[in-house]
Amino acid sequence: MSAINIALLGMGTVGTGIVKVLTNNAHSIAQKVGAPVTIKKILVKNPGKARNVTTDAKLVTDFEEILSDPDIKLVAEVMGGEVPAKDYMLAALNAGKHVVTANKDVVAKYGRELFEAAEKSHADFLFEASVGGGIPIIRPLKQCLAANKITEIMGIVNGTTNYMLTKMTNDRMDYAEVLAEAQAKGYAESDPTADVGGFDAARKIAILASIGFGARVTVNDVYIEGITNISIEDIEYAKELGFIIKLLAVAKQDDHGINVRVHPAFVSVNHPLAAVNDVFNAIFVKGDAVGETMFYGRGAGELPTASAVAADIIDVARDIRHNVSSQILCTCFDQKPIYPVSK
Ligand code: NAP
Ligand code: HSE
Repeated sequence: MSAINIALLGMGTVGTGIVKVLTNNAHSIAQKVGAPVTIKKILVKNPGKARNVTTDAKLVTDFEEILSDPDIKLVAEVMGGEVPAKDYMLAALNAGKHVVTANKDVVAKYGRELFEAAEKSHADFLFEASVGGGIPIIRPLKQCLAANKITEIMGIVNGTTNYMLTKMTNDRMDYAEVLAEAQAKGYAESDPTADVGGFDAARKIAILASIGFGARVTVNDVYIEGITNISIEDIEYAKELGFIIKLLAVAKQDDHGINVRVHPAFVSVNHPLAAVNDVFNAIFVKGDAVGETMFYGRGAGELPTASAVAADIIDVARDIRHNVSSQILCTCFDQKPIYPVSK
């Protein structure tokens, strides 16, 4: 069976992880897809930069080389940021190529436009890695819990700030020092203000609320407060009272409306979220039929995030092999909220 050729946009933390996963697990992935999956081209900014993985893929700096290549049927966007990532994804979808992405900035803001483009082109558009790193949460929410009325989605959805709060709590590490550590580990966004300011968590909870509640919830609907004002003293006071400080993202829906917020919170040491440490994320989803469910795992980092992107690639590659398109997961981004959204 001839190979399914794909392109990566970006070969940073996540892109490097994807190269590793697709290389290390090439055999089992080929079995699952029914054909080998080959990275043909990778878009980067600085082709001369030292990389910590080797690949046969051609490094290119011009997106046109990927867009105009008829052999490339699937584009995995892991370059980050809104510009030019959104335009590249849109162009790829309009050209009939399937797209997968880890980019919550673009999904949260332009999801609707991208889903429309995907639908028009009968292309797949998947974004499992955009929330929770390696944790399966988008598919479970959209598919496995589809029969429920979801009333609450709540948890820790940013790995960088959870890593920082853990180190500040357990080792009394200084804020700036521990942020630098999270950046060095590849957890933080290129502008870490997105993490510490709560904006990354806000984008993620907006995506989850949109899917879970079947409503268009935007970042502008989210009350946002980050961890920039949290000091070691705050953490020590919380400890004395039997609490841990965590950055929580919370989305609730009742008969009066939808409320979505991100802020630091006192969590009882006895609550399961108090034991979610380092880069781990945990997301609770409550449904009227299933009750409470919990999703837990590494919320950021090279291989965990690559695990989610590579799973999307495998799903799309199967579709390419069978010449179908079945993976537009989020038409709910189109719909108006049934209830008002308030901060
Ligand atoms: P990163 O390490 O900064 O890598 C970005 C890559 O994109 C680099 O290879 C860079 O090229 C390339 N790039 C950036 N702008 C470009 C441009 N204008 N033209 C061509 N290439 C460009 O980023 P990352 O941490 O892998 O994150 C990528 C995406 O995944 C982001 O949307 C992020 O939010 C999301 N994500 C990240 C994680 C994580 O743990 N890091 C987890 C979940 C989701 P050079 O290598 O040549 O500089
Ligand atoms: N910067 C993000 C985080 C990456 O720390 O959670 C994963 O989305």
